Amino acid sequence: MTLSPKEIAGRRAADFVRTGMTLGLGTGSTVHFTLLALGERIRAEGLRVRGVPTSLDTEHKARALGIPLASLDEVTSIDLTIDGADEIDPQFAMVKGGGGALLREKVVAAISRREVIVVGPEKVVPRLGSTFALPVEVAPFARPVVERALARLGCQPRLRTAKDGGRYLTDNHNEILDCRFADGIADPAALERAIDAIPGVVESGLFIGLAHVLVIGHPDGRAEVRER
Ligand code: A5P
Repeated sequence: MTLSPKEIAGRRAADFVRTGMTLGLGTGSTVHFTLLALGERIRAEGLRVRGVPTSLDTEHKARALGIPLASLDEVTSIDLTIDGADEIDPQFAMVKGGGGALLREKVVAAISRREVIVVGPEKVVPRLGSTFALPVEVAPFARPVVERALARLGCQPRLRTAKDGGRYLTDNHNEILDCRFADGIADPAALERAIDAIPGVVESGLFIGLAHVLVIGHPDGRAEVRER
C-alpha cells in the first residue's frame, strides 16, 4: 500500500517525540497522521506525553485517540510542536491558517522550543503568497476597516465563508480575510509588521522564525527532513 505524502510526513514527525514531552499539537490533514501515530505509540509502548491542541478539531481527535491534553494554564513552555503549513519558503517562513487555526497555532509556536512542520512537496515554494492567499484573523466589528487597510497593502482581501456558504467563524469567534497578493509576498517580515499594526487584526497567517525542522513527504514514499 502506498502512503500519501501527507501520511509519510505526518507519521515521520511522530518519531521526534520522546516520553515525558509536552507537545504542541498542530491542526490539519497532515498532522492528523501525526496524531494517529502518537495514539499508536501511546498504546503500543506506553509513550507518556501531554499535548496542547491548537484547535477544537485537534482537541477532539486527540481525545478520541487517547492523547492526554493540557491547557495553557498548566503549561509554560512546550518541548516540541508538530504542525502543518499552507506554504513554506527556503528560510522556513510560512503561510498558515488554511484551516483557520492560525491564532492558536502561533501562540503555541511562540512558546515552543522546537517546531517541526509537516507538508507534502507542493507546499514548499520559493516565494510565499505564490500559491495561497494569506489568512488574516480579524475581530468582526473591525472587519470593514481592516479590509480597506489590507487592500492598501497591495492585496485583494476576501471574507472567508463556511463550506455551506454561511458565516465562517474561527474557534475564537473571529472572521478571516484571505488576502491574495498578485505577485506573492516580497518581504514577509515587513508585511507581518504592517498587518499586525492594523487595529482590529487579531493575527496574521505569516509565521516567521518559528519553524526549526521541515519534514516533506514525497510521492515515492520518502520522508525528507530539513533543518533550519
Ligand atoms: C490550520 O489553520 C493551518 O495552518 C494548517 O496547519 C494547514 O492548513 C495545514 O494544512 P494541511 O491540512 O494540508 O495539513
